[in-house]
Amino acid sequence: ARTAAVIPAAGRGVRLGPGAPKALRTLGGTPMLIHAVRAMANSRAVSLVVVVAPADGTAEVKSLLDAHTLPERTDFLVVPGGENRQDSVRAGIDALPPGYDTVLVHDAARPLVPVDTVDAVIEAVRDGAVAVVPALPLADTVKEVEPSADGGPEPVLATPARARLRAVQTPQGFDRATLVRAHATVTENVTDDASMVEQLGLPVVVVPGHEEAFKVTRPLDLVLAEAVLARRRK
Ligand code: CTP
Ligand code: MG
Repeated sequence: ARTAAVIPAAGRGVRLGPGAPKALRTLGGTPMLIHAVRAMANSRAVSLVVVVAPADGTAEVKSLLDAHTLPERTDFLVVPGGENRQDSVRAGIDALPPGYDTVLVHDAARPLVPVDTVDAVIEAVRDGAVAVVPALPLADTVKEVEPSADGGPEPVLATPARARLRAVQTPQGFDRATLVRAHATVTENVTDDASMVEQLGLPVVVVPGHEEAFKVTRPLDLVLAEAVLARRRK
């Protein structure tokens, strides 16, 4: 019962503003991708990490992995990514060797997820769930709107009860065969892997996420990530 982690890291990071691809930008002097790889490899259950690199950046990512200290017991693979996140995840799944029956999918853009959260996701899969998502309750109330094309006011359609909503994070954990089937079946563009399993009609469960598993998306997130790292290093 071996576990592999696929790390989609092929995005440009448009919302972060101009610069290198997001996964290659540094936090505390170390590329975000290396933090994310360590976050997976630090779990004793993870024996393979597949990094999905920007299509023109596989050589650069390989040399980054060589240049940084990583756990000896973990194997690493680097494959080129695709146009959208889903294509990139599929490229990572396609590269998995036989023998890994639990697969994590973890955004490179969530570099600071604690190992306890990773282990909790793996444990829930090993206990029999086919798809497991770490998630947190929301602070903000959420409204569904009719999106405006011109930036004008947007009519509100509904306000789901906040107590029933969860903001989902990664790593998401899967029974491998289920994840493969989901990616082979669902073709429309989605933003998380578990929703593809939902579309197969299979159960997805939520386990507690962690505040430090937030996604680095906009410039302010970099400020927060640097502060979290500095606090850890104290
Ligand atoms: N990702 C990927 N391949 C893509 C697009 C995204 O591997 N074609 C990855 C990103 O590298 C990131 C994760 O999916 O680790 C989550 O995506 P997101 O936070 O949206 O990152 P970006 O797509 O890079 O950012 P943006 O949407 O602002 O351009
Ligand atoms: Mg994106």
